[in-house]
Amino acid sequence: MTAPKASTRAMAPNPTAGDGGSAHAAATVPVVAVDGPAASGKGTIAEGVAAVLRFHRLDSGALYRLVAWRALESATPLDDAPALAALARLDARFDADRVTAGGHDVTAALRGEDVSAAASRVAVHPAVRAALTERQRAFRRPPGLVADGRDMGTVIFPDARLKVFVTASPAERAARRHKQLIAKGISVTLESLLREIEARDARDAGRSAAPLAAAPDAVTLDTTGVAPGASIAAVLELCRARGIEPARE
Ligand code: DC
Repeated sequence: MTAPKASTRAMAPNPTAGDGGSAHAAATVPVVAVDGPAASGKGTIAEGVAAVLRFHRLDSGALYRLVAWRALESATPLDDAPALAALARLDARFDADRVTAGGHDVTAALRGEDVSAAASRVAVHPAVRAALTERQRAFRRPPGLVADGRDMGTVIFPDARLKVFVTASPAERAARRHKQLIAKGISVTLESLLREIEARDARDAGRSAAPLAAAPDAVTLDTTGVAPGASIAAVLELCRARGIEPARE
């Protein structure tokens, strides 16, 4: 089975400003939370599920990546929590699958390995996480939201209708990342990627603020050796079981 194409509504339109809607109205909007470690396949699954359901999508890692990218650009130390939190509060646009900051399309820049490593370092600071909390919740808009990250089901959307925790072996995750980077013409060794993934896992799971962890009510999905289409189908089946149906066109 082939993975469905990404939805053109992959992300909510610039949800940085408050929309004046009531918190209660937002709370009735169904959320599918997809958490998991780096390169576990959660982004691909979230994208495929959002496309089929015609829901909005939040790639929460992109927000941490944006803070990291800004820190690297401005030479802000990655341990200066107040300065990083100020960077997290700066405006940005999240349209479809493009991220625009300061008038520049930074989508490709955010995927670099230097930004990946820095994102996991800025994400340890509670002040940074707090600065991004409401911004993430603002993505919850009708007809629904598929949100992926590390703490979607535990902290940001604890009332999500469905919580999935996606895993895969470190070796498989490193191999997937290797394939993606080679396809983009970026030369890296499998060994260095495996070391980087293991270091990121340790940092993401070991931090005290919102560590990477499955919510007690999450369904764990091990994608080792599983094709993306099959993982997407499995999550859609869980959605159906929870009464989450595709939105009407
Ligand atoms: O999902 P990703 O690889 O794009 O995330 C980049 C980093 O951001 C990741 O190493 C940890 C951090 N992150 C986080 O702490 N909480 C989230 N909800 C999403 C990402």
